[in-house]
Amino acid sequence: STPLRIAVAGLGTVGAGTLRLLSENAEAIAARAGRAVQVTAVSARDRTRDRGIDLSGYQWFDDPVEMAARADADVMVELIGGSEGPAKEAVEAALSAGRSVVTANKALLAHHGTALARQAEGAGCTIGYEAAVAGGIPIIKGLREGLAGNRISRVYGILNGTCNYILTQMSDGGGPGANPIERQDFDAVLAEAQRLGYAEADPGFDIDGVDTAHKLAILTALAFGCEVDFDAVYVEGIRNVSALDVAYAEELGYCIKLLGVAQQVNGAVEQRVHPCMVRKGQPIASVDGVFNAVVADGDFVDTTMYEGRGAGAGPTASAVVADLIDIARGATLPVFGIAASGLRRLPTLPMERH
Ligand code: HSE
Repeated sequence: STPLRIAVAGLGTVGAGTLRLLSENAEAIAARAGRAVQVTAVSARDRTRDRGIDLSGYQWFDDPVEMAARADADVMVELIGGSEGPAKEAVEAALSAGRSVVTANKALLAHHGTALARQAEGAGCTIGYEAAVAGGIPIIKGLREGLAGNRISRVYGILNGTCNYILTQMSDGGGPGANPIERQDFDAVLAEAQRLGYAEADPGFDIDGVDTAHKLAILTALAFGCEVDFDAVYVEGIRNVSALDVAYAEELGYCIKLLGVAQQVNGAVEQRVHPCMVRKGQPIASVDGVFNAVVADGDFVDTTMYEGRGAGAGPTASAVVADLIDIARGATLPVFGIAASGLRRLPTLPMERH
């Protein structure tokens, strides 16, 4: 059988992780995909940077858009990031050339998901985005395939590993009984999250809830079969959560989590992101550190919860490769669960900003 040929755009944390995973687990991947999954071309900003990977066997492109149009590849993996610019142009170029796309780019899909889904399905290809939401948790498959028979009433969760890491450190950092003022300071914990490769290029996207809102807008479209509507999301991050807030919440038997919540209320959709008090003992309260969790309620399945690492090279690469295996097997799943041409614009509940 012929190998599935892959062009990878972007060789940062996730790109390098994806190349490593494809090479280390090549045999198991080929067995599950029914054929080899082979990287043929790569593109990144700096060819000479030491990533600990040998790039000599791949066709090199300085320009990801040119690679998307011309590489000797069936699928393009987009790991550049950003909702505009080269990432968007490369994805559009790949779809125009009839190649499917696998991406971890939640910002791109939150802003242009509906149009890109229509372009992909019109061209007879698909966009895999398991890696764009909740890192290594297979929540896209969970909603699109596992819960496909249900009407979903609500999806919510911890969708940003950096914020959850910071909030966890703020609550545990001082140890039991420590004076909250002496607990680990926000900036130091953020710097550590950046060092571990969890944070966005602009960590403001993490801290201010924008990254959570990107992911929530995608989950909403998938869960409710509607257009992706990022502008309808109410967004508030964790910048104003203090160590004292965390300590008081704990005293009252709660922890503070940044949640993204999407629910249907009287035929309309409410999407919101803000810090929440979660009672200790609730399953989601014990999801700590870089872990994410997603809860989905369906009319026949009842409540389901999914948990796993939401950021970092390994978990995100794991999700990218899962999509590649689906495509190698010939899966033709519609991007948002139902054909993009049938996506509706659902009325949205306005949320007060305060
Ligand atoms: N910055 C994101 C996070 C990476 O912290 O969750 C995964 O999307």
